[in-house]
Amino acid sequence: MDKKVVFSGVQPSGLLTVGNYIGAIRNFHTLQEEYDCYYCVVDMHAITVTQVPKDLREKTFQVLSLYLASGLDPEKATVFIQSHVPAHAELNWVLNCFTYMGQLNRMTQYKDKAVKHQDNLNAGLFTYPVLMASDILLYQTSYVPVGEDQRQHLELTRDIAQRFNARYSPTFEVPEGLIAKEMGKIMSLKDPESKMSKSDPDENASIFVLDDEDTIVRKIRRSVTDSEANFCYRDEQPGLKNLIHIYQAFSDESVENIVKHYEGSSYNQFKEDLAQLIYQKLSPVQERYKELMGDKKHLEEIYRIGSEKASYQANKTLRKVYKKVGFLPR
Ligand code: AMP
Ligand code: TRP
Repeated sequence: MDKKVVFSGVQPSGLLTVGNYIGAIRNFHTLQEEYDCYYCVVDMHAITVTQVPKDLREKTFQVLSLYLASGLDPEKATVFIQSHVPAHAELNWVLNCFTYMGQLNRMTQYKDKAVKHQDNLNAGLFTYPVLMASDILLYQTSYVPVGEDQRQHLELTRDIAQRFNARYSPTFEVPEGLIAKEMGKIMSLKDPESKMSKSDPDENASIFVLDDEDTIVRKIRRSVTDSEANFCYRDEQPGLKNLIHIYQAFSDESVENIVKHYEGSSYNQFKEDLAQLIYQKLSPVQERYKELMGDKKHLEEIYRIGSEKASYQANKTLRKVYKKVGFLPR
């Protein structure tokens, strides 16, 4: 039996946060033994907002290195860059013609980004989810490990796949999300009502995967909690709840155990321990990351091999799609 396929992508649009790490990247390598995994750096998605070309190149290397540093093995998983596999753009066009404006109008990520990027409201930002659907559907993907914020895009992907399959004949596997319940959404350290985001202008709102020890300690110390002085896990204390989620993700301990352990202690004690825990877990990743970034030739080799493997699979699906919609063979 062929292994089932896993696909995920991260945009090279800024420094990765512990939200990205917990919600997505740290789960990637645990899937590589059991599934046929494709992990993509989605540079084409990144240009839906303004990018400085030189920085985009560097950030693409950074995301690739972080994939590898957090345990992806290029012998087991296919690691590649979206713009290197033209089938993504090609399927994107076809699927654009199978997506309704009304559906795209309902996408909350678009609404959020439209407010933030009023000076550059381009069509790519609007049709972004169709490119994401193309990424996923090209590989006959069964599972997509992502954070909670991507749930709506996944629903759209399923919808497009089902519409196409119903109109012609079964062509696409209809994918499912792998979304961790609580950990699928790590919140900002400054405003626990909004998502921790790499594009947040306040850099104290996020811990970045590459932050050093002092920075982690300082940001956690200054993170927003509450004045109840009562160590509890509940919705009424969203700042503390979010810190407990981060603790849970890095320690693999249950919420109950964490709460039991810190009952009666000060938030400060908890925060000091949490900062140390994060640093302890991230520092080996940072070490490997630095080594990898020091050898760009090696990274280039990895992404070239990756895009060859990916292209082969992607083109198989694309050929079927072209045939079904009525394009003449080349
Ligand atoms: P992005 O930064 O939008 O490219 O997201 C890359 C991956 O990280 C996606 O799977 C997101 O769902 C996930 N992600 C981003 N921010 C968070 C967050 N605050 N909490 C959990 N997962 C996140
Ligand atoms: N839209 C995703 C995000 O912002 C990134 C992404 C693009 C993606 N294509 C994907 C994630 C395919 C999973 C699968 O986080």
